[in-house]
Amino acid sequence: MLCKLLIVFTLVSHAVSDSCVRYTFEENYNNWLENQWGSVCDNFPFWIAGKYSDLDVTSPNERSNSFITPLSSLSCVSSFIFTMNFGGTIEVNTFVKATQLTDQITILVHMHPNVDTVVGQGSIIPLDQNFVAGWRNVTMTLIGPPTYEGFINIMGMASPNSTVLVDSLRYIPPSMDESECIIYENLPQTKN
Ligand SMILES: *[C@@H]1O[C@H](CO)[C@@H](O)[C@H](O)[C@H]1NC(C)=O
Ligand SMILES: *[C@@H]1O[C@H](CO)[C@@H](O)[C@H](O)[C@H]1NC(C)=O
Repeated sequence: MLCKLLIVFTLVSHAVSDSCVRYTFEENYNNWLENQWGSVCDNFPFWIAGKYSDLDVTSPNERSNSFITPLSSLSCVSSFIFTMNFGGTIEVNTFVKATQLTDQITILVHMHPNVDTVVGQGSIIPLDQNFVAGWRNVTMTLIGPPTYEGFINIMGMASPNSTVLVDSLRYIPPSMDESECIIYENLPQTKN
């Protein structure tokens, strides 16, 4: 009996991935554009990459130079596929300075390959003129089976005088403390 329990426990702990996944848009964004899944982003333009040096927004970290931003029509892009778990957390770090109520970011987390199954969602949508411009994290706790493959789909639009951007994102497995999954790890101390 004990032996049987141990076997079951071992199988379960192997099935649950405990990898922190991070992405900062500092490099390889073209890989995203070349690998889109299902028809999720069909008929929409892609988000485009940009640099904080061209913008009047201070990046959230000294290591962060790049972001993605949508066009003035509804724009879409999907991440790479990675292993997700029920109870895991996805956090997307965004900045929105709205001038129109159509400015927005909507995140949908899809299973793969059955992309019609949405396992997480969140958004930044200004509801009125009192919306305060600034950084916000869209945080989603995933549902679905214990372990599956999935990807993050990012939709959004920005009218010409607005700023809408996504700086980075991370996936924290349910078994991990968020402090073990820091997006921009501290720069190593330089010795003098
Ligand atoms: C968003 O989350 C990051 C951790 O990934 C944190 O450092 C940052 O302060 C958060 N931003 C806001 C606006 O809460
Ligand atoms: C953007 O701002 C400029 C200057 O304030 C203004 O003339 C223009 O109409 C604005 N455009 C939109 C789409 O709101």
